[in-house]
Amino acid sequence: MVKKAASKTTKKPTAKKGLDTDRFGPSTIRDEVVLEVKNLQTNFTTKWGTVKACDGISYSVKRGETLGIVGESGSGKSVTALSIMRLIQSPPGEIAGGEVILNGRDILQISESQMTSVRGGEISMILQDPMQALNPVFDINDQVGEAIGIHQKVRGKTRWEKVVDALRKVRIPAAETRAKDYPHQLSGGMRQRVVGAIGISSNPDVIIADEPTTSLDVTIQAAYLRLLKQIQSETGAAIIFITHDFGIVAKMCDRVAVMYAGRIVEMADVREIFNNPLHEYTKALIGSVPKLEEKTGRLPQIDGQPPLLYDLPQGDSFAPRSPLKYDEKDALIRPELIEAKPNHFVQLSRCSVKDFDKYKDKVSYG
Ligand SMILES: Nc1ncnc2c1ncn2[C@@H]1O[C@H](COP(=O)(O)OP(=O)(O)OP(=O)(O)O)[C@@H](O)[C@H]1O
Ligand SMILES: [Mg+2]
Repeated sequence: MVKKAASKTTKKPTAKKGLDTDRFGPSTIRDEVVLEVKNLQTNFTTKWGTVKACDGISYSVKRGETLGIVGESGSGKSVTALSIMRLIQSPPGEIAGGEVILNGRDILQISESQMTSVRGGEISMILQDPMQALNPVFDINDQVGEAIGIHQKVRGKTRWEKVVDALRKVRIPAAETRAKDYPHQLSGGMRQRVVGAIGISSNPDVIIADEPTTSLDVTIQAAYLRLLKQIQSETGAAIIFITHDFGIVAKMCDRVAVMYAGRIVEMADVREIFNNPLHEYTKALIGSVPKLEEKTGRLPQIDGQPPLLYDLPQGDSFAPRSPLKYDEKDALIRPELIEAKPNHFVQLSRCSVKDFDKYKDKVSYG
């Protein structure tokens, strides 16, 4: 599904004028699928009705690959990630269907105790807000050590050494001293690194990073993302990188899936997405990235509001916001994700894809 090593390199991934695409690190893709999500569906029961927050998501990730997940607030990025980790609170949530194949077996089918060792072992999630992820009453050694103790079954001096080693891996200076600190004694950037250390401590095959740098300022953010890419090149981990910022995607990811209203509307290699976006929603998101060389006044907004997920339009949920002209009857057809060009998938709808006729005979994916 994915092109081999998109580039090894420092080569700029896109020709889009003015977009800052200096990569945070080289591409490290290997030719082996480590995680495959198939038709994943997660619903929430609310007093307004059933919310289909993750509505038939399918994608796969290879070892060493970084897949970006982008979309506006509420599009289902975190719910999809939490579903993969089996961390959806039930009720009100429920995984209603699909498969999550990690290292060859469906982790939706294993027991909760087996899942506990998979979580943090084979797959881990780095959360958005380090203060929420860290417990203020335990020191750093306790918190990083807990994860290491569970997954590597070590205690005492060995565990301590592994904690210090994990902190060094995320470039925390004076790791032995910092390990004895409490979260409030560290800066925001250091706390984020500690959360990263917990995430990578057992060398997971897949790391899900959910907006990992939202609480950091821009320079610290860049340093942290470079570090993530470096760790990836050392360990070969696949990264699912969730963000609402297409600018970061260009610098961080090999491939991108764009989410809208709980579904993937477009997915392709990062260069392809920037150079030849097919879906009007993707075009609008790319248009909202500030260009370095251009003086921008206000950023272009995407017209309209994201839809209410408990009250979705019946067919193409993007249709009401699409700038294209279309017949109302076309808007009622639920579009499928199809492979428009090799490795370039789009949710094909007459309402949201300008070149609809060019692709209408292609088969659907997932
Ligand atoms: N506990 C819940 N109860 C009811 N609905 C929920 C719950 N959690 C999430 N949802 C629904 O799922 C939708 C998707 O939420 P999600 O957190 O995945 O969005 P997101 O894409 O991660 O957004 P953001 O960029 O703001 O983090 C929300 O719009 C909300 O309607
Ligand atoms: Mg989220």
